[in-house]
Amino acid sequence: MLNKISGFADYLQKYQESIADPEKFWAQIAEANYWHKKWDQVVEWRFDGPKAPDVKWFLNAKLNITENIFERNMFLRKDQTALIWEPNDPAEKEIKLTYGELFDKVKQFANALLNLGVKKGDRVAIYLPMVPELAIAMMACARIGAIHSIIFAGFSSTALSDRIVDASAKVLITSDGGFRGNKIIPLKEIADEALKKSPSVEHAVVLKRTGKEITMTTGRDVWWHDVIKGMSTENKAEVMDAEDTLFILYTSGSTGKPKGVVHSQAGYMVYSEYTFKNVFQYSEGDMYWCTADIGWVTGHSYIIYGPLLAGATSIMFEGIPTFPDAGRFWDIVDKYKVNQIYTAPTAIRALMAQGDEWVESHDLSSLKVLGTVGEPINEEAWHWYHDMVGKGRCPIVDTWWQTETGGMLISPLAGITPTKPTMATLPLPGIQPILVDQEGNEIQGNAVQGILCIKYPWPGMLRTTWGDHDRCYQTYFSTFKGLYLTGDGAKRDEEGYYRIIGRIDDVINVSGHRIGTAEVEDAINEHPKVVESAVVGYPHPIKGSGIYAYVITESLSDEEQKNIEAEIRDTVNKLIGSIAKPDIIQLVSGLPKTRSGKIMRRILRKIGEGDATNLGDISTLLDPDVVEDIISGAKVEVKR
Ligand code: PRX
Repeated sequence: MLNKISGFADYLQKYQESIADPEKFWAQIAEANYWHKKWDQVVEWRFDGPKAPDVKWFLNAKLNITENIFERNMFLRKDQTALIWEPNDPAEKEIKLTYGELFDKVKQFANALLNLGVKKGDRVAIYLPMVPELAIAMMACARIGAIHSIIFAGFSSTALSDRIVDASAKVLITSDGGFRGNKIIPLKEIADEALKKSPSVEHAVVLKRTGKEITMTTGRDVWWHDVIKGMSTENKAEVMDAEDTLFILYTSGSTGKPKGVVHSQAGYMVYSEYTFKNVFQYSEGDMYWCTADIGWVTGHSYIIYGPLLAGATSIMFEGIPTFPDAGRFWDIVDKYKVNQIYTAPTAIRALMAQGDEWVESHDLSSLKVLGTVGEPINEEAWHWYHDMVGKGRCPIVDTWWQTETGGMLISPLAGITPTKPTMATLPLPGIQPILVDQEGNEIQGNAVQGILCIKYPWPGMLRTTWGDHDRCYQTYFSTFKGLYLTGDGAKRDEEGYYRIIGRIDDVINVSGHRIGTAEVEDAINEHPKVVESAVVGYPHPIKGSGIYAYVITESLSDEEQKNIEAEIRDTVNKLIGSIAKPDIIQLVSGLPKTRSGKIMRRILRKIGEGDATNLGDISTLLDPDVVEDIISGAKVEVKR
């Protein structure tokens, strides 16, 4: 297979080549793609200076990513299954679409979008459950050069409208509902709420999934099955510039509202395919399953774009790991003879807690590679995954990356890079990580720890944040001049292997979902009785991190006191979604603040971790006594 690394010596050599001459290295990789016109220059970049960041790859090249998925693969793969859809309810039949069939559906829906007036550069918001139409819709956008912005179907109407408004999306694609375990999510109802506050949306395309009764607004809402009626399956791909925007994906940061991370066409395409093939060591005919939701970056890059560019068969799963029972993942592995599975530590821990018998009662002998992503994997989960699920035969690829990076940056190559429990191991070719101290000085050598930054661009990296380029600079490039700041802390061991420790900013990874503490605080503060709040992460046995909220309220009646926690959770659920609901709410009389009014989150984090033995100097606080009050009222056991 083209561009596939064949062994550890080959990896080391490719890595050296990619650092010594990045332009030559990436040009060689990109040669395998289908271009209307090739690039004049491979890369041009600046992480600092006026209008920074300024990163361009494959300058002036012309392409369409869907031609690389379909036209390029068609000769070999017309009748090969591209996508397998496994429904939430195992009693419902799966859907298999060949490259040929999927292509026709993408072209047909592309024509429907054109017919609705969607043009190159327009934004299309997609708020769908995990159904094949989600894949079809995103690729139809790419086909006509529209920019997709997929919003996870667990987000609330406010979160949805915030994202629609920020991108001024012209069309919203949603459904009458979605199935998740034994729940039905009323997506259209939520979308209707959101659309009241989203004036840019001219049309909502509504897919029938649950058959639940919904309201259709005349003139605005159209059924999916109606818009594709009579649409041709002939469609010529829009020719895109390498640096045109392919998609926007919103993600949380330390401050403010989520920002729209912008990915461009050519670099993202080259990078997602290359990393998919190499990290999973994908071979012709393999059955590949990534359990993520396409609403997150993992689903974008490693359910759809990476695998389909590589001509793989990719499984998408509508449901959850524990429905109808805790054997569901292993049923799917067995049913399709999955070779590579890619999931999150939180799912591994949740299934581990259900007991070994669920695994032991299934035939998992097809598995060759076990992937993990989204948060640090703890030693126990790593071993269970390796020994119980993989029976010690399958390498674990602990892949570290981010929404902003477009694809994996630090990861073993399956079966090639010797693994060590909990370590993401080594950078992929083209990736130049560096550890720095608080002042931005490089920490050299091995057996060290620091803030993880990247010092050279790679094709899949973000280009900007939608509508606010300076925010992109401020967030990622201003802290340490000339470096991309990841927001993660990392260790580099004696052998140069990386272990990601976790976020160093006010972002928490809850069940692998990225949540900004400021966003949750803003939501909590919307409750009329709340005066102020401070949110931190704390260690949670399944979720990795849980959300701990310290809340000051106005004085409450007994009745109000009884309901306040549920009401706060409800407020967060309404404003963000259930993924952001605090696990612990502690009502406090005050928060530890400096004399300048800054909340000392470090202290709150320590208390949440159950450790008050080393809180540092608290004498400079405005009111040192609140610390004792918080410790004595803590909802976790606190060591003093
Ligand atoms: O803290 C790191 C963690 O997830 C963050 C990125 O989250 P998001 O943009 O939602 O993308 C998740 C899927 C790529 C990172 O800053 N993270 C991701 N993968 C790992 C990880 N932490 C440790 N180990 C990983 N393998």
